[in-house]
Amino acid sequence: MAGKVTPKITWLGHATFRIESPQGKVVVIDPWVSENPSCPKEKAEFAKIDLMLVTHGHFDHIGDAVALGKKHNPNVVAIYEICAFLEEKGLGNVIGMNKGGTVEVAGLGVTMVGADHSSSILDDDGKLVYGGEACGFVVEFEGGFKVYHAGDTNLFGDMKLIGELYKPDLALLPIGGHYTMGPKEAAVACRLLGVRSVIPMHFGTFPILKGSPQALRKAAKDIRDLEVIELRPGETYGA
Ligand code: NI
Ligand code: MN
Repeated sequence: MAGKVTPKITWLGHATFRIESPQGKVVVIDPWVSENPSCPKEKAEFAKIDLMLVTHGHFDHIGDAVALGKKHNPNVVAIYEICAFLEEKGLGNVIGMNKGGTVEVAGLGVTMVGADHSSSILDDDGKLVYGGEACGFVVEFEGGFKVYHAGDTNLFGDMKLIGELYKPDLALLPIGGHYTMGPKEAAVACRLLGVRSVIPMHFGTFPILKGSPQALRKAAKDIRDLEVIELRPGETYGA
């Protein structure tokens, strides 16, 4: 991967990431910080957000989208139905799209890909709003480094196509189990995607999310040159 600059990838616990691009653009994926038990308090505030991505409507992914969207006025990319919801809640700059599409925003390339999961939004009145379908994103940073955030998902065979088409350099994969795939499935995901590096996520937040990076390491030990990057919440990987 010579020549590509790795962005600064900070895990805020669960599926929430703050990624700073080589040009200083701040991307927040699946904004859930205020009630996220894994998010270090000092990392729950942002100086700015240029781009916010939401993979699906479950509270542990969209929880702070409205509050942070109002505060920082970022560009927001999500599936059409999520964007309609966020617009109704008062956010501007929303870009509703769907799977297979790519948008250029904040100088970055954002491609929406599939995920095997459900999606609904718990509204303030306690009712569930249709959230479209769950998705993942491949984000291309300046210089060409690509990060795949899988969202919540089971393993699916089309991860091979995501690997072939977009060639992500690094994958952010759920490993907790119960609501998503666990370490065994995530190891196969790494193989299908052909990634060199993986940062496990969506584990440990609650006792039920049992999958561990050690279990992923074990399940993936036959994959040559795969780097399992184990972050603690609040830690940063990259340049
Ligand atoms: Ni979910
Ligand atoms: Mn989730």
